[in-house]
Amino acid sequence: MDRYCVIGDPIAHSKSPHIHTAFAAQTGQQLSYERCLPPAGQFVDTVRNLIAQGYKGANVTMPFKLDAAAMCLTLSPRARAAGAVNTMSFIGTDIVGDNTDGPGLVNDIVRNAGVQLAGKRVLLLGAGGAARGVILPLLGEQPQAVVIANRTVATAEALAAQFAGDTAHSQQLAARGYDQLGADAPFDVVVNATSAGFGAAMPPVPASVFGPGTLALDMMYGRDPSLFMQFAAQHGANVRDGLGMLVEQAAESFFIWRGVRPATETILSDLRQKL
Ligand code: ATR
Repeated sequence: MDRYCVIGDPIAHSKSPHIHTAFAAQTGQQLSYERCLPPAGQFVDTVRNLIAQGYKGANVTMPFKLDAAAMCLTLSPRARAAGAVNTMSFIGTDIVGDNTDGPGLVNDIVRNAGVQLAGKRVLLLGAGGAARGVILPLLGEQPQAVVIANRTVATAEALAAQFAGDTAHSQQLAARGYDQLGADAPFDVVVNATSAGFGAAMPPVPASVFGPGTLALDMMYGRDPSLFMQFAAQHGANVRDGLGMLVEQAAESFFIWRGVRPATETILSDLRQKL
């Protein structure tokens, strides 16, 4: 039986084994999927050990996505753009890295929420790893604009500049501080990719970024709506948490490994009930 796992720290609460086991049952694929907690400082050795044991691949989550990118021998364009890998495939002597967070976000917005991104104006809040991971797949949907807003404006500018080498993208991308968003508001889609998720904090976004029909998506998820989701809903937005993105990024990993695309609706509602 082909073996896979998810590597992270902490990892005990990862939903990935449940999701991939459900995908395998649904598609009739024979595989096992476990959690893996590397000993301190031993991510690379842990991966080499998995390869030696004949594992076919691994998902990688916090805090190892950059380490995973560094040890892959081949990177997909979206993993290279993200600078981070969440899906490793062990193929012969090759270690192939991909990043399915961006496609997961895009599929959740387009397929699950039914919001097309082509020609739309997207506001991305945050300029850390979570934001960087989704920019290339967002741009691939041909939005009119992707505006990156960050507390530290220089980080947003550096991120926009990273993608500006391609002139098509430089037309679409802009970087702003939160106090500079009024002129561009409202947006069709607002994505919270900051780490100010379910704590007492939320990004200091002005209410004017939300209009009637704006989709506001928080990459975080939990039993209750985040402060960002509550604020967006109070100002007329349709809100969504990150659970759909979680399931969709898993579906994309499953597709990379198995060549079969699982249906995601049932597992998403199942996970929602268990939150
Ligand atoms: P991740 O990998 O989860 O993206 P990260 O790389 O540390 O984590 O990035 C965290 C992001 O959340 C950054 O964009 C950070 O803004 P700064 O670059 O200005 O630090 C943002 N962030 C964290 N807490 C925030 C808060 N309370 N308000 C606004 N932005 C916040």
